[in-house]
Amino acid sequence: MPAIAATRPENPHLSDALARIAPSRTTAMTDRAIALKEAGHDIIALSVGEPDFATPPHVVAAAKSALDAGATRYTTVGGTARLKAAAALHFARDLGIELPTRQITVSAGGKQAIFHALLASLNADDEVLIPAPWWVSYPEIVHFAGARVVALPTMAAGGFRITPAQLAAAITPRTRWLVLNAPGNPTGACYTASELQALGAVLARHPRVLVLSDDIYAALRYADRPHATLAVACPQLAERVLTISGVSKSHAMTGFRIGVAAGPAWLIAAMERLQSHSSGNACSVSQAAAVAAFEGPQGFLAEWRGRLRARRDACVAALNAMPGLSVPVPEGAFYAMVDAGALMARFGDDEALALHLLNHGVAVVAASAFGGRECGLAGFRISFAADDARLAEALRRIAKALA
Ligand SMILES: Cc1ncc(COP(=O)(O)O)c(C=O)c1O
Repeated sequence: MPAIAATRPENPHLSDALARIAPSRTTAMTDRAIALKEAGHDIIALSVGEPDFATPPHVVAAAKSALDAGATRYTTVGGTARLKAAAALHFARDLGIELPTRQITVSAGGKQAIFHALLASLNADDEVLIPAPWWVSYPEIVHFAGARVVALPTMAAGGFRITPAQLAAAITPRTRWLVLNAPGNPTGACYTASELQALGAVLARHPRVLVLSDDIYAALRYADRPHATLAVACPQLAERVLTISGVSKSHAMTGFRIGVAAGPAWLIAAMERLQSHSSGNACSVSQAAAVAAFEGPQGFLAEWRGRLRARRDACVAALNAMPGLSVPVPEGAFYAMVDAGALMARFGDDEALALHLLNHGVAVVAASAFGGRECGLAGFRISFAADDARLAEALRRIAKALA
């Protein structure tokens, strides 16, 4: 895929803030795959960040009932009382975070909650620590806010986890936020409670640093141990941890655009202040659907996890058998980060490799889109949330393309 240039201020009508950010490269690759498909090409898109499962029927039914019941108006900015209560139930039951509803807010996707939290709290030249490889939107949102990204490089050999020493060395008087995303996109990395406590011991010495704990993939873990999250592992830090969750990934509801956040009351109020002038509120119909998602049966998740785990194992085994590729087993989410460094002499860079694979009918996203260069990683992220037959065909195409 050719580099997608950041929008630069050659157009005098654009703001300096917009000129600092590039379009999302995951979305760009997916749009490109869709355009090729529409032009009649047979493309398997493994670039997209959403489960292929159908939204559970009880959630769809709740959305239809909401429409019939006339839930088609503005709601309160931070979400309906009903959804805030359902989100409080979700945070307590699924993550162990017990907070009153005034410390919970609802946005149009986890992405908007993160956008509002960072914009509401960052000033020019503040620093945000982001472990690399990272989810594409974190650095762009930080840049939009005028702040600086400080990459914390991680390696496959270390489970793509940051260490306490690395964190301690990176914190400066300008550090405002640490971003922790587990299970992580694009690596699937997870932390144990004791690893989080070791990071928490460093953070305890720096009271000015806030933590964005993005747990949006918490329901999709494949190891047998329970999910660990910073606000629970380190209760003494809870007053400066914002935990992000939602229904997009766990309930296959990406199009509904509902995300939830739990954290200190002052920050939740600040996010709602900003939201009152941006989206106003998340979609009323989607909010009703999210109530059903949080309050309804959760049993399907075990089955989804089982299917995703089988696909993960097939995908990792097939890729590791291809010369020049190396893939650690992701512990969560539905992505594998493939190291193709050994093929760079042939392809030049990983964008050229991703383009080569697209020409062979498979859309993946170059590791450089996720800050791969910050940690010396050249390769690609592949999503294994695709049906078994398509995934198997995609793996055959990749093998042929690299042969
Ligand atoms: C790590 C991470 N955080 C947050 C989000 C945002 O999810 P959404 O806005 O769809 O709820 C995504 C989506 O791809 C993600 O991968």
